[in-house]
Amino acid sequence: MCIFASFVFNFMPKAKVNEELCIGCGTCESLCPKVFKMEDGKSHVIAEDCADCNCEEVVGSCPVSAITLE
Ligand code: F3S
Repeated sequence: MCIFASFVFNFMPKAKVNEELCIGCGTCESLCPKVFKMEDGKSHVIAEDCADCNCEEVVGSCPVSAITLE
């Protein structure tokens, strides 16, 4: 892996959903279906990182601020 790829890989944010706050609106799954999946009325993170979508947009779109990036 080249230095640049290594840098990007190491700093790619990972999304986290606070299931206590999630009201199951589904916005995150519709914006980033490769990262979020609805199950039992709650959102679950199914990807290792946010490489395939703009998770920052999703964080701002969640109506109850249940999503954070680490
Ligand atoms: Fe839940 Fe927010 Fe997604 S309410 S379903 S985490 S957009």
